[in-house]
Amino acid sequence: MTAPLLEVTGLTTTFGTGGKRASAVRGLDFTLEPGKVLGIVGESGSGKSVAMMSMLQLLAPSAKVTGSAIYKGRDLITMGPRDIRKIRGKEIGCIFQDPLSAFNPVKTIGHQIVEAILLHDSKISKRAATEHATSLLADVAIPQPGERLGQYPHEFSGGMRQRAMIAMALANGPNLLIADEPTTALDVTVQAQILDLLRKLTEERGIATILITHDLGVVAGMADEIMVMYAGRVVERGSAEAIFYDTRHPYTRGLIAAMPKLDGPGEILRAIEGTPPSIWTRPPGCSFAPRCSFAIEACRTTEPGLRRVGETETACMRAEELDKGMPA
Ligand SMILES: Nc1ncnc2c1ncn2[C@@H]1O[C@H](COP(=O)(O)OP(=O)(O)OP(=O)(O)O)[C@@H](O)[C@H]1O
Ligand code: SF4
Ligand SMILES: [Mg+2]
Repeated sequence: MTAPLLEVTGLTTTFGTGGKRASAVRGLDFTLEPGKVLGIVGESGSGKSVAMMSMLQLLAPSAKVTGSAIYKGRDLITMGPRDIRKIRGKEIGCIFQDPLSAFNPVKTIGHQIVEAILLHDSKISKRAATEHATSLLADVAIPQPGERLGQYPHEFSGGMRQRAMIAMALANGPNLLIADEPTTALDVTVQAQILDLLRKLTEERGIATILITHDLGVVAGMADEIMVMYAGRVVERGSAEAIFYDTRHPYTRGLIAAMPKLDGPGEILRAIEGTPPSIWTRPPGCSFAPRCSFAIEACRTTEPGLRRVGETETACMRAEELDKGMPA
């Protein structure tokens, strides 16, 4: 087995002031090997972004982060500000949901990519950095990259901006790419193109990727491993195949049922009824119980931990019964 590139243990993040605090991420554990793709899936508010921002020290000081995130032998969480800044944007590239807000509107795309390169490589000349930026735009399939470099973010279409953001994230040859909802704002065709591009680039370069999304369909064809998050915790995890074919958590089932089907329009999606709890109103016991049609009394008092059942690890006390059809 390859040594992990990233090993996260007990990652916990709380928000609040004084004695009134609530946890948005609760004891996240995972490892990521070089070159692998980890998909993190869950509805809005499940703690996906907070977990990543916690690792990168990108949260406001009111957030308290505990646990560890060992990247190449060093803990990202306790690292000093200078060290973490060196790692962010160089060794770890980030792609966020809304590239328009990630780019500065009054600087050209080229200027911003060149700036990112110069920031992490003091020896490179501006000319060489510009050539590198041009080749990066070509790598992400932006036509006429030389001309495009001189344009402003608003002159790019949504899909092009997302490609430019990927180029920026790759600018300093990262070992790890964190893509947080990289395709949410895009239409389905462009979304598929961007995912293909991400897959191709990360495979070619052997980059490990964390792909965050609320849509299981997005990670289906791309992730080696999938973690499903609910209310700040992992409720099910396994290989992409196991998650789809040996599903052991009712929430994962719900997400699968809510995936758009390929057999055309007219399909009525079975969304999961109700909404996730806020970090301040999480119920005791299994956080999913108020929405779960399989909940029994014990679910409302005891919070199940992750355990292996079948091909996945799951945090459902009725997981064995989910094997064949729905339990009563
Ligand atoms: N600064 C903050 N102060 C208090 N609560 C916060 C703060 N930032 C995030 N939260 C809460 O933490 C929870 C997790 O938020 P997070 O942004 O990680 O969700 P997410 O899974 O990324 O959702 P989305 O799919 O909408 O991006 C949410 O309930 C959110 O309201
Ligand atoms: S533990 Fe109970 S409430 Fe939670 S997912 Fe399983 S059956 Fe549903
Ligand atoms: Mg998010």
